[in-house]
Amino acid sequence: MDIDVIVAEHTKRLAAADALLPKPQSWAPGEGTRLSARDGVALATRSRIAAGAREALWRPLTEYQLDVRLAGADPGVPLGALLAEWEELLSEAADEPDSAAAVTRPSRDTVGCAELLRHGFSPTRVLAVRPADRLGSGPPAVPGVRIRRAEPADLNTLVRLRLELRRYDAQFAVVTLRPGEERVLTDATRELIGTVSSGVPALWIAELYGKPLGFVHVQLPPRSDWAGEYVAAERVGYLAVLHVAEEARSTGVGTALAGHAHQLFDEEGIEAVLLHHALANPRSTPFWYAQGYRPLWTTWYRHPAARG
Ligand SMILES: CC(C)(COP(=O)(O)OP(=O)(O)OC[C@H]1O[C@@H](n2cnc3c(N)ncnc32)[C@H](O)[C@@H]1OP(=O)(O)O)[C@@H](O)C(=O)NCCC(=O)NCCS
Repeated sequence: MDIDVIVAEHTKRLAAADALLPKPQSWAPGEGTRLSARDGVALATRSRIAAGAREALWRPLTEYQLDVRLAGADPGVPLGALLAEWEELLSEAADEPDSAAAVTRPSRDTVGCAELLRHGFSPTRVLAVRPADRLGSGPPAVPGVRIRRAEPADLNTLVRLRLELRRYDAQFAVVTLRPGEERVLTDATRELIGTVSSGVPALWIAELYGKPLGFVHVQLPPRSDWAGEYVAAERVGYLAVLHVAEEARSTGVGTALAGHAHQLFDEEGIEAVLLHHALANPRSTPFWYAQGYRPLWTTWYRHPAARG
């Protein structure tokens, strides 16, 4: 099948599967390695970062990615063929334990899930979306919870909570614990405390009777503009982090923080809010879906990238 016909069929199937998906982007000439199969094409890319880089806190040092366009009566068949072809490129990562292969697929375009599983990939990370005005459900408001902007004096508390979140998230392989991460997180948090976007502070603290027990980090335009390529909406917000101290979970603090964030997004005329979460997280997955989110993109990972 001609590549333009494959892309047209792929685009049509995605539009029917999910109205919130943007039109698939075209690939820049000369970018990555093109793979092709009957009824399918793919772009394979690789990115490497140094162990000391700040991004190393949130990703493997080497990440291989495959972007696919699928067509035909059973689009899972070309996906299987493209994955088989990709294995050859991935075999070069045989001596790289800190690596991952990742395939990001529209969550509701479920074709090819079985092929991904057969090649050893697991659905690991979701980019979820909450269209404006979605109603959420949750516990009744907790008396005594106050949400306030983060101040420089909150630095140590915020770093402690962020380290706690990293230890929790590391269980699901969405982050890797790194030596020196406390220093990197302290610098990043110090910068964030002073960050204001569209007049709105990025970091907010939840306190119960004066004790800080959780925080939320929101991104508004223009800082959240990067997220626009993932959703068919004009004004997009990103909920970067929400965390509640272990001793305060399941008591409504998270709902209060999410409610505050959604109010900030609504006041700024945000049409869709996006956030990432680990699918295997037994706390965040039900929490976000009760707050009005649903899956938009699912990233399937294999750690390490090479098979065997
Ligand atoms: C995920 C997290 C932020 C949620 O915050 P939280 O303060 O625990 O959540 P809340 O108490 O506001 O909401 C959940 C509770 O609401 C209640 N609830 C949920 N739906 C409800 C409904 N429809 N009606 C009444 N009550 C409801 C339940 O008591 C539920 O707790 P339970 O399922 O343990 O019984 C928090 O658990 C956390 O920080 N987890 C660890 C780190 C993490 O996963 N962070 C998110 C990364 S994306």
